[in-house]
Amino acid sequence: MKDFLCIHDCSAEQLRDLLDESSSLKKLYKSGQRDLCLAGKTLAMLFEKPSLRTRISFQVAMTDLGGSPIYVKPEDIGGIGKREPIKDMARVLSRYVDGIMARTFEHSSVTELAQFATVPVINALTDWSHPCQAMADVLTIAEHVGRIEGAKIAFVGDGNNVARSLAFASAKLGMKMVVASPPGYELDTESIEMANGVTPDSVRRTGDPKAAVSDANIVYTDTWVSMGQEDEKQKRRADFAGFEVNAELVAAAPADVKIMHCLPAYRGFEISDEVAESENSIMFDQAENRLHFQRALLKKLLS
Ligand code: CP
Ligand code: NVA
Repeated sequence: MKDFLCIHDCSAEQLRDLLDESSSLKKLYKSGQRDLCLAGKTLAMLFEKPSLRTRISFQVAMTDLGGSPIYVKPEDIGGIGKREPIKDMARVLSRYVDGIMARTFEHSSVTELAQFATVPVINALTDWSHPCQAMADVLTIAEHVGRIEGAKIAFVGDGNNVARSLAFASAKLGMKMVVASPPGYELDTESIEMANGVTPDSVRRTGDPKAAVSDANIVYTDTWVSMGQEDEKQKRRADFAGFEVNAELVAAAPADVKIMHCLPAYRGFEISDEVAESENSIMFDQAENRLHFQRALLKKLLS
């Protein structure tokens, strides 16, 4: 595995290996020990969009492993693919650093970086997918549900980048996922077919959030307005009415259901404050696992 761009491109064995490494490194770091396997290595971090979790957890993960992260604001380099072609950026950066991670609007920006870079490229979110998030989510599910295989996820909301990566992870790792969305915001048919081509019937869609959560181990949601969709905010908020993860919806789920959200959360829209702050919510353990997964990913790809 040279790059980490899309969960669908990885084998189940590679994904399980990354999860095992995440758990081992998590234990090691919790015990106060360190693994300096990336001493002397550098990671360029390119961001076209804002980030709290991804940016800080990657910086900490890289530093934890003895390496140096270099954060690059798009304006510092004249944008991604604007001042110079992406293929030139990829080849120049490959002469300086040991790895590149990028958060971009277009998914083709990260695939083009990977095509031309001779060092590993990591997808830190694109409009199409968010694989690091989904893998941290699976680690969290393993810890809180006690198993991955057979775990049932009800994703309530937008069939977006986060939903897509989780669908690919579900198919690869034996989870069952139902995506409940209003008309026009469903996870696309092609992605569902990609997932179910790996494991039949692992992912399905519905328009009924209550039916979706009825036997779920996990109820998962994400913003209705992803980065770059700010102009559609009013329309989206109206279209998603009835899809808030609130106490009424959670009452339709099993009592021990866990609530997940990739964050940032917009309380009063896709999730109520009451549910976000409830005992069922594991969203901060989930956020923490971004660090543990990415440490493992950096170790595997860069060392
Ligand atoms: N969940 C997530 O990727 O958060 P950031 O946008 O803050 O990185
Ligand atoms: N779907 C959201 C995820 C944020 C982490 C977005 O793309 O903005």
